[in-house]
Amino acid sequence: MASTQEHYDDHLGPIYTWMLGGFDAACSAAEEELDNAGLAPAKGDVVVDLGCGSGQFSIVLARNGASVLAVDCCKPLLAELDQRSGELNVRTIHSDMLSFRRHLSQPASGIVCMGDTLTHLPSKEDVQVLLRDVASALKSGGVFVATFRNYAGDGPMGDARFIPVQSDANRILTCFIEYGRFSVGVTDLVHERDGDSWQLRTSSYEKLRLEPAEVSATLEESGCHVRTENGSRGMVRIVAVR
Ligand SMILES: C[S@@+](CC[C@H](N)C(=O)[O-])C[C@H]1O[C@@H](n2cnc3c(N)ncnc32)[C@H](O)[C@@H]1O
Repeated sequence: MASTQEHYDDHLGPIYTWMLGGFDAACSAAEEELDNAGLAPAKGDVVVDLGCGSGQFSIVLARNGASVLAVDCCKPLLAELDQRSGELNVRTIHSDMLSFRRHLSQPASGIVCMGDTLTHLPSKEDVQVLLRDVASALKSGGVFVATFRNYAGDGPMGDARFIPVQSDANRILTCFIEYGRFSVGVTDLVHERDGDSWQLRTSSYEKLRLEPAEVSATLEESGCHVRTENGSRGMVRIVAVR
């Protein structure tokens, strides 16, 4: 079993943007998600993107005038974002998102943690620590948006555990998931064409089984008004206003 960082550095990071269908498609989806969440920063607003990946949310927020702090523990993904951000106001930070406040010098107008990133943290206690820090780092009226998968229930059984994610003529990404008591084991299987044959690479890591109610309760206890909605790609969206 790989650590989350190993999984992204060595396996998923280099093909992450391809997995999303390319960067332009990812930006269009990000724009729609942020519109639906009602996060529309004004020019100069400071916004933090926790677990930014290759940065489609950071880019969309910066195009709208925000000054973005993009935090991720995967260097190849941050390098991709650096290449794409050009003149936009995006500062990439290679760090554990649990330490994001060290890099923030003023209260944030917005904080986002998108695309099932919260479930990548090692424990529910870590999620609570992060959410309390998020609430403290927001200015009054500031907004936090998170999307993540609700892994409640028994989970898929048998063949349904194999999920086709993305494919083209040269590569196929399939995800295999297996529910444990507190976590979900995730294996990303990557088949890549090598001349007339195919090579298989695999890597496994764990995600937390996080309940939307736990997330909203912690944010409410930290002084936020919270709503829970359906997000894109079957995820739950939590929107918290400080
Ligand atoms: C599923 S991807 C989501 C990326 C992006 N937010 C999106 O919506 O496409 C999760 C990202 O979180 C990063 N990540 C996971 N755990 C992290 C941590 N503790 N600190 C910083 N980044 C982390 C991974 O490197 C990866 O880029």
